[in-house]
Amino acid sequence: MKYQFDTRCIHGENHRTEDANYAVSYPIYQSACFSHLTTGHNPNGFDYTRESNPTRAYLEEAISSLEHSSDTVAFSSGMAAIAATFELFRPGDHILLGEDLYGGVVRLIDQISSKNGYVTEYVDTTEIQKLRAAVRPDTRAIYLETPSNPMMRVTDIQKAAEAAHEAGALLIVDNTFMTPYFQNPIQEGADIVIHSGTKYLSGHNDTVCGFLCSANRELGERFRLISKTIGATLGPFESWLCLRGLKTLAIRMERHRSNALKVREWLMRQKAVQKVYYAGSGMISFEVDSAAMAEGILKNIQLIIFAESLGGTESLLTYPTSQTHPDVPAEQKEKLGISDRLLRLSVGIENPEDIIRDLEQAFEQALE
Ligand SMILES: Cc1ncc(COP(=O)(O)O)c(C=O)c1O
Repeated sequence: MKYQFDTRCIHGENHRTEDANYAVSYPIYQSACFSHLTTGHNPNGFDYTRESNPTRAYLEEAISSLEHSSDTVAFSSGMAAIAATFELFRPGDHILLGEDLYGGVVRLIDQISSKNGYVTEYVDTTEIQKLRAAVRPDTRAIYLETPSNPMMRVTDIQKAAEAAHEAGALLIVDNTFMTPYFQNPIQEGADIVIHSGTKYLSGHNDTVCGFLCSANRELGERFRLISKTIGATLGPFESWLCLRGLKTLAIRMERHRSNALKVREWLMRQKAVQKVYYAGSGMISFEVDSAAMAEGILKNIQLIIFAESLGGTESLLTYPTSQTHPDVPAEQKEKLGISDRLLRLSVGIENPEDIIRDLEQAFEQALE
């Protein structure tokens, strides 16, 4: 029987624990290696934890079930997953990148991958005509975030997939902000889904991890080869933390969204707020009157924490220009609106009245 999404967050794809002691919570297999009974015979297929590990495998199956992927590989961070994705390409390959991406990806492209000779080009993927016009016969991939970080720009995944596939290219979608609860890119035609599992999937601001979910077996096998070879795999304990967080993904996402809608409504009524960017889920970016105002808010929040992450139970306020996007060139930031007046709020699952009251007092103090 195929269970509903929220049940699969807890039980995975209908799998009971195979643990010898019938543990209800899947155990942490904190072992670097697994014994062989005879030559070539390792009973459950586990050999060495860099390659595979039961706790990680259990988590990977659970994510595959939620993302409708053929396979999922867990990495030690979202960036490790992204770096592994770029290992698919060769010198000369043309790669189209969404204009607004997490700053770490821009840093990877500009400061690490540039030596590999990929021909990268930024394009406004939200306008499908512009995207289509940018696709070339040698385009190998379109890489995007939707909604994007931090400007919440939305791309039509189905149309982007069509544009990619007509050129024989891959569509790679970072689904960190929406999670499979709100959006399943593979079902809309994406070939690869990326997650910073550090965010909503783990959900408690206590672990760093990443995932590559692939739409077909060939890609899955390629990612398994890359991951076991470069070795940026997820440890058993972090795998377990993510599994534990995943159990409440569905109810957390509902609460993140309902809290965010209330906070967004409040922000839209503030005179000092010029713009509010919201595209669903629990993430809101907003622009205030001045840099001094933005800094004043960051300084005076008491419940909300001034920190650089998102998607956890605690509300976090981030200053994208210096925290998440310092390595994005100034002209690009200006073009996108990532200014010193922009704040990004990851609305947590606290009582929404407390979140709004905290913003209220921080705004008042910042305005004094
Ligand atoms: C959309 C997005 N993708 C990927 C990453 C990178 O993930 P990690 O920090 O887990 O390496 C981040 C980090 O903030 C992100 O916001």
